[in-house]
Amino acid sequence: ERKNLYKIAQIGADGIGPEVIDAGVEVIHAVAKKLGNARYEFTNLDWSSDRYKKTGSYVPDNYIEVLKEHDAIFFGAVGAPDVPDHVSLWGLRLAICQPYMYANVRRTRILPGTESPLRNCKPEDLDWCIVRENSEGEYAGHGGRSHRGLPHEIGTEVTIFTRVGIKRIATYAFQLAQARPRKLLTYVTKSNAMRNGMVLWDEVINEVAKDFPDVTMDHMLVDAMTVRMTLHPESLDTILATNLHADILSDLAAALAGSIGIAPTANIDPSRTMPSMFEPIHGSAFDITGMGIANPIGTFWSACEMLDWLGEHESAELLMKAIEKTCASGVMTKDLGGKANTAQVTQAVIHAIMSS
Ligand code: NAI
Ligand code: MG
Repeated sequence: ERKNLYKIAQIGADGIGPEVIDAGVEVIHAVAKKLGNARYEFTNLDWSSDRYKKTGSYVPDNYIEVLKEHDAIFFGAVGAPDVPDHVSLWGLRLAICQPYMYANVRRTRILPGTESPLRNCKPEDLDWCIVRENSEGEYAGHGGRSHRGLPHEIGTEVTIFTRVGIKRIATYAFQLAQARPRKLLTYVTKSNAMRNGMVLWDEVINEVAKDFPDVTMDHMLVDAMTVRMTLHPESLDTILATNLHADILSDLAAALAGSIGIAPTANIDPSRTMPSMFEPIHGSAFDITGMGIANPIGTFWSACEMLDWLGEHESAELLMKAIEKTCASGVMTKDLGGKANTAQVTQAVIHAIMSS
């Protein structure tokens, strides 16, 4: 009997990251055991703030080569109380994603048994897929500091938008929208106040739209978008926005769907030159680190995204069903209003997998 073999780079990193990623690895092994069609080999990499504090670097010099030996990256979260956040984020997460994985995909749904903080919002009213441009915009790393410490000190963060960058993310978003039943794409900019780069976005997206006549498209300014997401969630399906805007909107989306603890992220290199990276949306959550109460659902859902990207669609579906069954049965962590801890939720999901 032939089995597909996948090599996965496992980077739990900081805070609750290793707690939820260890749980995710267990759950993936359970899926493989149940279906017997694939094997997953995890390389546990110690790239973290601890490594940075010991060696001065989050990753080894040859980290790209190391990652390239793998089919996917399963990532926890980076950030430590005694390291500035911009150092940890750029040292590890952005070092991996920024140059290669230009599409950041964030699905949001209200899982069975969980509740939206929005009054009258039923599960079928909120089913979104946010596509975030993942390499440009305000997060491109352009800018500088001058006159340090002086009263007239200056800091710039230059927003970078390129035709190439917009076109490739727009194409990806249209393809994704086309593959979803509603074929509906809402793109978000701020082209009233930002009259250069954001107008370029509008223009390029409208050019790309011509290749997708079957996708219905509409446009929102980002400020008005927060209102529409809150008041008319059912009017949205696939959402395309810049790096900064989608970063903020996707946190709002996760909160509207119930908790930041359930939301998944896929950092995709559509060219498949680099392995893509899958991670829960949340950070390292110092306030609950080591308590064993972190919600592992965001990581499990990210694992679904990873299995799907690897082509193991049946495995992804089995895992998603097990997640939904577990939530529906009320086995949930505190952030979702439940009483279970990380291990109990993990065992419940494994049980749902094995007994399906
Ligand atoms: P956070 O997401 O770590 O925590 C925000 C709040 O949500 C906290 O109260 C936390 O307890 C709760 N929370 C988060 N994940 C949870 C889970 N799985 N289960 C239950 N509750 C959960 O965001 P925060 O506090 O702004 O950042 C903490 C650190 O994480 C910082 O160093 C930040 O830079 C880093 N960070 C890293 C990210 C990444 O690696 N992708 C993403 C966001 C933040
Ligand atoms: Mg964010």
